[in-house]
Amino acid sequence: MKQLWKGERGGNVITAEPNTMITPNLLRIDASGRYHQSMSRQLTDYLIDHLQRLYPDARVITRDLAQGLPYLDEEMIIAYNTPEEKRTSNQKELLQISDELVEELKVTDILVIGVPMYNFTIPATLKAYLDLVVRSRLTFRYTENGPKGLLSDKKTYILATTAGTKLFGPLDYMSDYLRHILGFMGIHDVEIIAADGLIKGGEGKIAAIYRQIDTLITEFQAL
Ligand SMILES: Cc1cc2nc3c(=O)[nH]c(=O)nc-3n(C[C@H](O)[C@H](O)[C@H](O)COP(=O)(O)O)c2cc1C
Repeated sequence: MKQLWKGERGGNVITAEPNTMITPNLLRIDASGRYHQSMSRQLTDYLIDHLQRLYPDARVITRDLAQGLPYLDEEMIIAYNTPEEKRTSNQKELLQISDELVEELKVTDILVIGVPMYNFTIPATLKAYLDLVVRSRLTFRYTENGPKGLLSDKKTYILATTAGTKLFGPLDYMSDYLRHILGFMGIHDVEIIAADGLIKGGEGKIAAIYRQIDTLITEFQAL
């Protein structure tokens, strides 16, 4: 049955045909350190909500990076560099979280990342996450022709928030980096939704971003 629904925050009316034939895996990653009034979390909620309407049976996995992840230390790096068949049980245990995150990313069909800018780049929590998933022989490998990403490409939405720094401008050290590191693992189909300069933008700016999300989802639906 055809379903009409409206973006709750003043977005366009979208005609969505919920697709119950496909059960994609959605991976949601939140990198904001805060919960109260977090704009990146609100925008991510909105986008995930859209996707769940399109795919009511979708499996959604959430990685809330504010809950903490280990930083790479010497023992973990040694374990990374030890061939799998030679790893001790202690090393296997050390790599358990990394293996789990890699596995999760491998089976993800749609990736959604909510990320604020911290000091002109990504929050340390997201860097910690990336250090756990960018793994030689698992998510990339070097070939005669240079590095090759081993993950299958997947639709990726990055909801990037800043207070004042212009995204894609000279002081933005996060969007090119995120594109690069995702591409390094084989993820190239990346849309960055720039919710930048929020301190000055006010309600009008936020409404425009919600409309942009509506449009992106309509385009995605039409693929
Ligand atoms: C530690 C810290 C560093 C920040 N650095 C920047 C920055 O370099 N440029 C900027 O425009 N905003 C900066 N901000 C503001 C956040 O990017 C902005 O408030 C964003 O909306 C936060 O996302 P959230 O609302 O999801 O928490 C910083 C905020 C914090 C807490």
